[in-house]
Amino acid sequence: MPRVLTGITPSGILHLGNYFGAMRPAIELQAGGDAFYFIADYHSMTVVTDAQERRDFTRGIALDWLACGLDPAKAVFWRQSDLPEVCELTWLLGSLTPMGLLERAHSYKDKLAKGLAPNFGLFAYPVLMAADILLFDTNVVPVGKDQKQHLEMTRDIAIKFNLAYGETFVVPEERISEEVAVIPGLDGQKMSKSYNNTVEIFGEEKALRKKIMGIVMDSRTPQEPKPDADKNLAIQLLKHVAPKDVAAGFENRLHAGGLGYGDLKKALFEHYWNFFAPYRAKRAELAANPDHIEKVLADGAERARAVASKVMARARKNCGLR
Ligand code: TRP
Repeated sequence: MPRVLTGITPSGILHLGNYFGAMRPAIELQAGGDAFYFIADYHSMTVVTDAQERRDFTRGIALDWLACGLDPAKAVFWRQSDLPEVCELTWLLGSLTPMGLLERAHSYKDKLAKGLAPNFGLFAYPVLMAADILLFDTNVVPVGKDQKQHLEMTRDIAIKFNLAYGETFVVPEERISEEVAVIPGLDGQKMSKSYNNTVEIFGEEKALRKKIMGIVMDSRTPQEPKPDADKNLAIQLLKHVAPKDVAAGFENRLHAGGLGYGDLKKALFEHYWNFFAPYRAKRAELAANPDHIEKVLADGAERARAVASKVMARARKNCGLR
């Protein structure tokens, strides 16, 4: 059975783009029986520099994933920094990683272009990610297109290491799903925290209603037929949170004319709110018991370490360390 692994950086509040693009597909994969999911708090060091903020995001992610169906009985779920082996492996891999490879990283160049001050962590980010993946004999990494290059780098680094020191690491397969849903944000661009156009999965009802009712549409009257109804942002979002026939019904009404944007947005809010209602209840239940979350993560770390310590021992031995 292929081992599936992915990491989630705790650098913000999760939104619908995260849910439909990453969480739901990953949670579906846990049924396969060999899923490894972790909260990448070391990775968050390059963007979050407030300790309390990191704690809050980390806890939030644990709650969100468990509430949305991650089952610790099926998937191994842990916090990256509970296994410092990953930093040790980063050093071993980094010593074989050419500067040129890292200099070509899109994510590094993008972050500099956005004005982040370059530092070692930002530059070495792909090596840490390679360590995450190689430490667990991972076969498959389900990620979005934005991580494609990081995965190629991981493969390059693994191949280099195996050539230098003998077969040590499993070279992971790329599985970049093209149909991973790209969820449009409130302004029509891809939903992303950096565009400030997100709808959170869990948040305060009033604020979220306001966000959705505030989606800007055009000035056509409700009566006018709208042949471009399928491109309407609220329709596109509705298709994710409402049953198929309901979403199709709204699309047809908008297309034919007679449906006002206000009513459409109201429906979108209701369906979105109801879609997550059971998860919201589960999240509240989990949040009331912080000790339980800690226990789940500690238990996950122990199971993750059982794999990591073997791989780490193999890597040390093959390259002549103790
Ligand atoms: N860099 C990934 C992201 O920003 C998160 C991540 C860290 C990751 N380590 C990983 C994803 C290992 C897959 C495998 O989304």
